[in-house]
Amino acid sequence: MLHPDYPIVTERLLLRPATLADLDEMYAYKSQPDVCRYLPYEPMSREQVAERISGLWARTELTEVGQALNLCVEEKASGRLLGDVVLFWRNAENRTGEIGYVFSPDAAGHGYATEAATELLRLGFEGLVLHRITAQLDARNTPSARVLERLGMRREAVHREDMWFKNEWSDSAIYAMLAHEWHNLKTTADDRAPQRDQADAQLGELQGR
Ligand SMILES: CC(C)(COP(=O)(O)OP(=O)(O)OC[C@H]1O[C@@H](n2cnc3c(N)ncnc32)[C@H](O)[C@@H]1OP(=O)(O)O)[C@@H](O)C(=O)NCCC(=O)NCCS
Repeated sequence: MLHPDYPIVTERLLLRPATLADLDEMYAYKSQPDVCRYLPYEPMSREQVAERISGLWARTELTEVGQALNLCVEEKASGRLLGDVVLFWRNAENRTGEIGYVFSPDAAGHGYATEAATELLRLGFEGLVLHRITAQLDARNTPSARVLERLGMRREAVHREDMWFKNEWSDSAIYAMLAHEWHNLKTTADDRAPQRDQADAQLGELQGR
């Protein structure tokens, strides 16, 4: 079971369930063919986005295996909607989950997807106590693969032509992280934080700040 308190706050972002107030901004990117090229749906109409916001994407918690938690990602400073992310609860016995994300091209190149997806891993490993979290993508989706590598996920497989996807056979790549890897990453980051603060302070002194 996962019952997050909203909004989930990160350094630059707020993660929260969608409302119909998000419709215009969400439609603006979910209707773009380039954005949807590697997503398992076609560019959406305004009505389709509205229907999802009121239906599937309205979920605020995970209570059963098979459910998915979709969250909007908002820029804290401006309130702008940057994109949305999803955590799937896949299997109870194996304690597995899967993550996904889609961002507006206007928000690209700032690390927002990586920052938001880090929170999905935290929700999965620390909230749902999952053992393994995966991501599956079209092997040609390099920007998405780079997000997963920045997260510290491992490229475990490329399955040749295992998907009939948008009128062609496509290769899928599988990335994964295990719970102990997440906790090790966190420990390493926490250990480095004081050293980083000290280095920043020394740099500030050198620069006469
Ligand atoms: C996949 C997708 C989210 C990647 O977006 P992105 O902007 O490349 O990813 P991030 O927001 O994490 O930004 C990372 C980039 O910002 C740069 N960056 C700038 N500031 C940064 C910071 N503070 N922290 C991390 N990265 C930063 C990184 O160097 C990186 O650029 P690079 O890939 O050229 O090295 C986006 O392309 C997308 O939404 N695509 C369409 C939907 C889709 O395919 N989803 C995935 C389906 S599997």
